Amino acid sequence: MSKPIDVTIIGGGMITNDLILPSIYHLQRAGVVGDIKVCALNSGPLQVLKENTEIREAFPGQDFTAYPDSTESPDKVFPELYKDVIRDMPPRQAVIVAVPDQFHYEMVMDALNGDQHVLCVKPLVLKYEHTVEIEKLALEKGLFVGVEYHKRFDRRSLLAKRYYKEGRYGEFTIGEAKMIEPYFYRFSNFQNWFTCENTDPFVYVGCHYVDLVNYITGLKPVEVSVQGIKGPFPNGKEGYMWANGRVRFENGALLSVTDGLGYPDDGAGPNEQCLTMFCEKNGKAGLIKHNDQFRGVSHSYVEEADAKLFNYVNPDFYRLIPWQGEGLKPVGYGFDSVAATIEMIHQIENETEGLDKTATVRHSREIIKKVDEKGIIATPANSYINELVVEAARLSILNDGMPVEIKYGDTHHVKIRN
Ligand SMILES: NC(=O)c1ccc[n+]([C@@H]2O[C@H](COP(=O)([O-])OP(=O)(O)OC[C@H]3O[C@@H](n4cnc5c(N)ncnc54)[C@H](O)[C@@H]3O)[C@@H](O)[C@H]2O)c1
Repeated sequence: MSKPIDVTIIGGGMITNDLILPSIYHLQRAGVVGDIKVCALNSGPLQVLKENTEIREAFPGQDFTAYPDSTESPDKVFPELYKDVIRDMPPRQAVIVAVPDQFHYEMVMDALNGDQHVLCVKPLVLKYEHTVEIEKLALEKGLFVGVEYHKRFDRRSLLAKRYYKEGRYGEFTIGEAKMIEPYFYRFSNFQNWFTCENTDPFVYVGCHYVDLVNYITGLKPVEVSVQGIKGPFPNGKEGYMWANGRVRFENGALLSVTDGLGYPDDGAGPNEQCLTMFCEKNGKAGLIKHNDQFRGVSHSYVEEADAKLFNYVNPDFYRLIPWQGEGLKPVGYGFDSVAATIEMIHQIENETEGLDKTATVRHSREIIKKVDEKGIIATPANSYINELVVEAARLSILNDGMPVEIKYGDTHHVKIRN
């Protein structure tokens, strides 16, 4: 019998509701996960999570412990409560960090210092030097850190990775990617944190496709230039609503990335997203072209569902579907991605059970190194280019598109091109 691991999710927002909590419930059902705690800034979102009818229907009888408790007023905030929750966990369980980007660093470090493995939503952190610190501390303690870049688990990405390695397309030369999130995001909690000084659409979602190109080709980005278009949120705060970035890779290849909070709310499908990569080899051109927006499934409903009567449905990312067991089960690359890290943590803890501290750390490190090398689950060691790209992108967008170079050496760093 394997021993389940306890999971604390920090953050009770959209990504917890739409992917993380249902995935963790399913893993609890499968015996991989034990107790589940969810900690948010205030009680409001936790109540919403508990009352979500689709989640209740999919996971009958399953529940989590809420921090703060539902008896607390939704107006009262508890920014430090997660620290107490981590402190009370048995060692070497799992903390999932699912809060706005700018808090990831502190919370991941707190979780590692509290002797917990980590799954962090992307981007891991906003500065390269913070990734290095996280990687070092995690390795010292033999703790696993996975970053939730779920597009890596999409079958089309995995296939492209395999075929690229086999040389079937030739070498990546030029390409474009797009990820335009819905317009209605502007009316969500985003308006409190998605402001110009914190983040922008390139950093928020463009990073998925930069990560994918590196994941498929192994090529490192060496220069980034991003321009943004600012606009007001309904609460008056200003954010970048659109962004266009150009990334140059070490072989000279160029990737153009267009992002925004602006896919029409009446449009079919949840967003606009795609990747095209042109390649060359032996006097011929190769091509990878992913239409990630329309995945071949259209639904027209007689009653409003998902707020749309006609919709392009993406069955690949995350859906709750019937299965032999009770309720519904989550499927898709979103679930696969969450499961990959949580199962890895579960494997580490089960393989090291009964070992002394030194042997535990030694064996955990061996497993971590193998995962780093395999390059499928994103880890600080195999996905650090994302932090360099994010850092370069922030510098560039705040300087109205100035090209920012990424310099690789003893210490990698970014600097505005002279
Ligand atoms: N495609 C993706 O991979 C994807 C999609 C959506 C979000 N995300 C990432 O997930 C993160 C959160 O995004 P979201 O859409 O869920 O945001 P959100 O604004 O909907 O929710 C944020 C949550 O964080 C909680 N929070 C903030 N400070 C906290 C604190 N000190 N202690 C405990 N909880 C705290 C809030 O209570 C809220 O529940 C971001 O980093 C985002 O980039 C990734």
